[in-house]
Amino acid sequence: MNKEHIKVDTDGSAGVIELHRPKAANALNRRMVDEIVEQMEAFDRDETIRVIVVKGNTKAFAAGADIEEMMKDSPLSLEFTNPFAVWDRMMYIKKPMIAAVNGFALGGGFELALHCDLIVAAEDAKFGFPEINLGVMPGAGGTQLLTKAMGKAKALEWIWLGKPMDAQEAMHYGVINRVVAPELVKEEALRLAGQLSEQAPISMRFIKEAVQEAIDTPLQDGLTLERKNFYLAFASQDQKEGMKAFAEKRRPSFKGV
Ligand code: CAA
Repeated sequence: MNKEHIKVDTDGSAGVIELHRPKAANALNRRMVDEIVEQMEAFDRDETIRVIVVKGNTKAFAAGADIEEMMKDSPLSLEFTNPFAVWDRMMYIKKPMIAAVNGFALGGGFELALHCDLIVAAEDAKFGFPEINLGVMPGAGGTQLLTKAMGKAKALEWIWLGKPMDAQEAMHYGVINRVVAPELVKEEALRLAGQLSEQAPISMRFIKEAVQEAIDTPLQDGLTLERKNFYLAFASQDQKEGMKAFAEKRRPSFKGV
């Protein structure tokens, strides 16, 4: 698919997806979401890529789903075309994903950031769900992802009031990972990506799967999956290399096999 609304780049072993609809504050129309998801999956398959970074521009990460596009929707068109189903594919990306957020991350833009594993934000970033002001509600995962990230009381307050929260507040509630000066967001996200790229790739993947299980399932199922992944990690060369390097008092060299 020709990319109309995203730019794709690499930085070392980081695959970078830049949202690029500057005239519409990076509002996510359906074609753009398709492009993002397809590129995430392409990076996930690419053996030279270890981490995926999603970024916007200096003014906006993304200002939500495209309101003009949604104005043409009806309940039946939504039900039959199910335009938000494509978002579920983000949950199956196995590599770590980092959102690098400058400016607005609103509605679907915030949901896109929450679908990433880690969020690095500018001091002046704004996170919020303004859907209530449009007479609707978050529809691409916001009620679920935010509640799991910060708990019911604060998530409900945030979504009900529809007012954006600044980066420090989002950090305080554990929704994001790092707050930096606006001009350092991309650099910090790539630095974090670089650190993650040096970690054992198979362990990274198993850990992501197990941590997601912690969110979605009863404790016993999560413990069972964690144990299975721990045992399975011993099938990798990286486990042998990691433990041998420890014994030989040197840095391990992980190959992802
Ligand atoms: N959809 C479509 N167009 C959008 C948009 C959106 N979500 N957000 C911004 N734009 C467009 C504006 O219409 C404007 O276009 P024109 O220049 O052609 O008029 C352009 O982007 C720049 O926006 P503003 O002039 O409004 O810029 P601003 O700096 O004054 O304000 C903003 C920026 C606070 C992000 C404001 O644009 C805004 O509030 N946008 C809407 C945010 C919103 O409600 N998002 C939720 C959408 S619903 C959703 O996301 C559902 C879901 O769960 C998936």
